[in-house]
Amino acid sequence: MSALLSVRDVTVRFGGITAIDGARLEVEPGRLLGFIGPNGAGKTTMMRVITGVVRPSAGQVLFRGSDITRWSTVARIRHGLALAQQIVRPLRALTLLDNVALAVGHRRLTSPVAAMLRHDRRRERERAHTLLERVGLAEVAGQRPEALPLGYLKRLEVARALALEPALLLLDEPLAGLNQREARAMADLIAELPGPSLAVVLIEHNLGEVLRVCPTLYVQDGGRALAFGPTSEVMARADVRAAYLGVGR
Ligand SMILES: Nc1ncnc2c1ncn2[C@@H]1O[C@H](COP(=O)(O)OP(=O)(O)OP(=O)(O)O)[C@@H](O)[C@H]1O
Ligand SMILES: [Mg+2]
Repeated sequence: MSALLSVRDVTVRFGGITAIDGARLEVEPGRLLGFIGPNGAGKTTMMRVITGVVRPSAGQVLFRGSDITRWSTVARIRHGLALAQQIVRPLRALTLLDNVALAVGHRRLTSPVAAMLRHDRRRERERAHTLLERVGLAEVAGQRPEALPLGYLKRLEVARALALEPALLLLDEPLAGLNQREARAMADLIAELPGPSLAVVLIEHNLGEVLRVCPTLYVQDGGRALAFGPTSEVMARADVRAAYLGVGR
């Protein structure tokens, strides 16, 4: 079975710090992979390697059959990669619907097939509405972001990422800053996202929600891959538990 994404023996050094030290990671199509590890484990750095923001000192990143190690971020997005960042930055002057419609319009610019179709604003708005329904925001589609709680903005961020029709969606701490009820609802939403054409990687410190919704886990510690496999097997390991002692946020 060929992986959607393979990170092979990647090392990242920042001056004297080795943030990632020969880590390996694979994501199968259609999966929801929980990516956990203590603070400073190199999780965000790994995301940046995958999105092309950070170039590894060694190793390769393969995505959808291509070696993308030297590709620009824009080329990677065109190839089906999307990222929802921890800090949400919607366009404040636009409604949620227009925020998502704009992202749908961007998709047109990045896809050669979509670019051949006539620019159709009504279609873009319909598609945006469908995406807002998918993330549970249909009833506030006409509102502006500033009036809405963080939980809504995080959902909006996911809808904007989905507008790019990615094959792989990377989520870096989407539950951070949410209260328990919002975090649970967001985790439920994330659990519903993967399908035949979409895999999701969830970086999260909220271990309770990760263990509840992720069937597979990747654990990184000190820049190294510590464990990878079915959630129950990974969490049964003594070294994984040790890495988490005193970390339970
Ligand atoms: N741009 C940078 N320049 C220098 N050092 C960096 C840079 N980015 C990350 N680091 C260092 O690399 C290591 C890994 O950091 P990273 O942010 O990837 O960890 P993380 O697992 O995402 O942590 P957290 O759970 O706190 O978000 C840390 O020691 C960090 O200080
Ligand atoms: Mg981080």
